[in-house]
Parts: sequence; C-alpha cells; structure tokens
Amino acid sequence: MRFISLVLVPLSLFCASPEYEDGKRLYGQHGCFGCHGRNLEGMHNYPYLANRAKGYMKYKLERFRSKLSDNQQQEMMIPFAVGLSDKDIENLTIYMNEFVPEDSKNRYDDSYKTYGDGGS
Ligand code: HEC
Repeated sequence: MRFISLVLVPLSLFCASPEYEDGKRLYGQHGCFGCHGRNLEGMHNYPYLANRAKGYMKYKLERFRSKLSDNQQQEMMIPFAVGLSDKDIENLTIYMNEFVPEDSKNRYDDSYKTYGDGGS
C-alpha cells in the first residue's frame, strides 16, 4: 500500500486531474477566454483568473448564476454563468486555481544566446 502511494502521489503531480481537464474544456466551450484570455491573464476591465482563490471564484460564479452583480460591469458575467451546473463551477474553479500555462516550457529557451561571435 505504501509502495502504491509512493508511485501515485508523484504521478498525480505531473498529470492534470480529470477535474482540471473538464474545467479547461468548459472554459473553452463557454468562451470565457474571449474576455479573460487564453492564459487566464485578463485584459482591460476583465480580471485575470489564473491561480486565484477557489472559494472566492466559486462564490462569484454562484452569485452571477443567481443573476446577482454589484455593478454594471459585472452584469456582463451573468449570461455566461447562468448555464453552469454546480459541477461545472467546481471544475472551472479547479482549472483556474491550478492553472499552468501550456507553453510555459517553451517560453524561456535558454539555448538561444543573445551574444554573437562579434562577426556582424
Ligand atoms: C463578455 C466578457 C466575459 C466573459 C465571456 C466571461 N467573463 Fe468573467 N468576468 C467579466 C467581467 C466584466 C467580470 C467582472 C469584473 C469586475 O468585477 O469588475 C468578470 C468576473 C469574473 C469572475 C470574478 C473575478 C473577480 O475578480 O471578481 C470570475 C471567477 C469569472 N469572471 C469567471 C468567468 C468564467 C469561468 C467564464 C466562462 C464561463 C467567464 N468569466 C466569461 C467578463 C467576462
């Protein structure tokens, strides 16, 4: 038993959970990226969502789903939240909270040298 958990725990750190994958699918399917960005980075008045607190995002999404907003700006969220089930909100918040950019391993390519051989 201990051996199994020794193998499974590190594995689960490297593989995205089914909840994360489902949240990612929902995020794409509902067009959330249109305002909050492909990398959950937000833009203009649209808040970033990457790695934000789960409890807070769940609270906000449930409020928007109940057609409650604190200001006109937030009303924009209501049509995108009304169709979400509890499970959808759960998986979306897992995805946003644990978000890891997919291109992160390519972003810093340290094989590229900024200094040349002085020839040009
Ligand atoms: C049409 C643009 C738009 C789309 C599409 C959209 N949002 Fe939003 N979202 C907003 C705006 C505007 C706010 C409120 C910003 C504020 O409080 O001033 C917001 C707020 C939020 C918040 C609360 C964040 C905070 O800081 O209070 C969450 C969580 C969120 N959106 C998730 C989502 C998810 C998940 C989807 C897809 C189902 C989605 N949004 C689709 C515009 C959008």
